[in-house]
Amino acid sequence: MSIAPARDDLDALRREAWALIAAAVTDGLAPFHTPTIATADGEGAPRLRTVVLRAADAAAGTVRFHTDLRSAKAGELAGDPRTAVHFFDPARKVQVQLAGRAVIAGIAEEDARSAWETARPSSRTGYGVMPGPGTPIAGGGSYRLPGTAAEIAAGAAHFGAVTVTADRLDWLSLDATGHRRARFVRTATAWQGTWLVP
Ligand SMILES: Cc1cc2nc3c(=O)[nH]c(=O)nc-3n(C[C@H](O)[C@H](O)[C@H](O)COP(=O)(O)O)c2cc1C
Repeated sequence: MSIAPARDDLDALRREAWALIAAAVTDGLAPFHTPTIATADGEGAPRLRTVVLRAADAAAGTVRFHTDLRSAKAGELAGDPRTAVHFFDPARKVQVQLAGRAVIAGIAEEDARSAWETARPSSRTGYGVMPGPGTPIAGGGSYRLPGTAAEIAAGAAHFGAVTVTADRLDWLSLDATGHRRARFVRTATAWQGTWLVP
């Protein structure tokens, strides 16, 4: 993918950040395809995990991932929707961090229903796992995946589409000729950017 680096133009830098995120939705080999999502647990302690980036909308400032509604992260985001999303591309030496709020849609909502309907069968299967994700089990294989089409379809009840609306974007790029760091904060009408010391 040829996304030209924007060095000293704040607006171009923000556009580049969103272009990298958007391109990674369909590029399974892009490092930005698998960001890290942060939540706080019930005691406020930080928790991080990898997810697959499923959608991005630069104009709306949103990214989406899918998860099992029985997972710890789904419960944590339901309790406190504040989240952060971390992207890192080692070849470009670019880090992008989003901070914002998550909204979880279940299968009764259009966002999740259309995502479920277009998901690959292999992706759907996991949502029918029993018992639910994170349940302690006697042995590593002591869980059951759905075996029939009806069981796989029943997994839809556990499927969640999580949309994060960013209100802050942090950019850091490392370059031998000079690192660049910037922060963009969403105002009512636009993104306000400022350079920071790297
Ligand atoms: C490459 C990779 C991609 C993953 N993608 C997702 C994903 O899209 N959604 C998800 O819920 N978990 C995904 N996981 C699993 C999570 O990282 C995590 O282990 C799991 O969801 C349980 O997290 P939780 O207990 O914090 O909710 C992925 C893991 C890896 C290694």
